[in-house]
Amino acid sequence: MFSQSMFRFVLGVDNESELLLESLSWFMFLMGGCAFLVMRFVNMPYGRFASRKFGFPVNVKVAWFIQEFPSLAVPVYLVFFSTDIRPLQLSNQLLLGMFICHYIHRSLMFPFLIRGGKATPFIPFACAFIFCIYNGYLQARYLSKYAVYPSDWITDPRFLTGFTLWLFGLSVNLHSDHILRKLRKPGETGYKIPQGGMFEYVSCANFLGEIMEWFGFAIACWSLQSASFAGFGFLILSSRAAQHHRLAALLLMRRHRQRTPLRTCKRRGTVFDAERWLHPRLDWPHCVTAVKRPVSGQSGNKIFQRTSECR
Ligand SMILES: NC(=O)c1ccc[n+]([C@@H]2O[C@H](COP(=O)([O-])OP(=O)(O)OC[C@H]3O[C@@H](n4cnc5c(N)ncnc54)[C@H](OP(=O)(O)O)[C@@H]3O)[C@@H](O)[C@H]2O)c1
Repeated sequence: MFSQSMFRFVLGVDNESELLLESLSWFMFLMGGCAFLVMRFVNMPYGRFASRKFGFPVNVKVAWFIQEFPSLAVPVYLVFFSTDIRPLQLSNQLLLGMFICHYIHRSLMFPFLIRGGKATPFIPFACAFIFCIYNGYLQARYLSKYAVYPSDWITDPRFLTGFTLWLFGLSVNLHSDHILRKLRKPGETGYKIPQGGMFEYVSCANFLGEIMEWFGFAIACWSLQSASFAGFGFLILSSRAAQHHRLAALLLMRRHRQRTPLRTCKRRGTVFDAERWLHPRLDWPHCVTAVKRPVSGQSGNKIFQRTSECR
């Protein structure tokens, strides 16, 4: 009783557990900031950047299934089996449903649809696994035990805006991942330029969708806990998107140096011929060396993915 009063008086929270969730949220912001800084210098070591330096390889489907599963299992356990929750209001149920819905897809469906994905090194796999336990607990514990919303929250503009953004982001993420999968025929492992959907506007539409999704979730939840996850996701995914984009830029420059013909884009000036960059047998990891040998004086050039704009 005394300790609860102290927590409320000193920190403005009701008890130790609520303080724990707030601390976990701030720590997540900190982790995101640190990861963002590290990723200025180190490529996120899975997928196209996988490297044995980061541990032994784990089969990509097994890795995605195991690492993401805690974000589904922990909330399901807390909601259905924990006795330490309050009766859930409709708004809490919907918000928990949004989180669980994403992870039903991410852990039970996405891994088994992957085509030709690279094995995940053990260290990023273990980090993702620990993060999913951490975040699954943080979001689900808050929504099942502490979050109190007004009875009309589901008609509040914040909930409606957040839910709409979440749904749109989810659709963009699913559709973009589907486009990426379709780029490969069974057995292929190389890389091609994605087209269609939001890939017409950005080079990493799947990451953009996921960022929008969690910002929508944060607006709908209107809590520190969800904001920390949205912030973390933004820092991680925007860094990975920049790495993908930078690598593509460097590859284009490298091939230009090898006398790849230039094409002229009517509307936007000179661009490189992206299709020629995508030699069918070009294995992307070999080209990571290009990152270490950027071509001087070329950094101002822009990349456009659709050569149809060019003549
Ligand atoms: N919330 C978070 O913090 C977080 C963090 C990371 C990822 N995610 C989500 O998890 C999902 C997957 O992430 P990711 O980093 O693995 O995405 P990714 O690097 O874009 O790869 C997704 C899949 O598509 C393949 N692929 C990518 N680009 C391709 C191309 N140009 N041609 C042919 N195949 C291509 C990849 O194969 P390879 O394996 O051979 O590269 C992989 O199987 C995304 O939806 C992302 O939003 C979320």
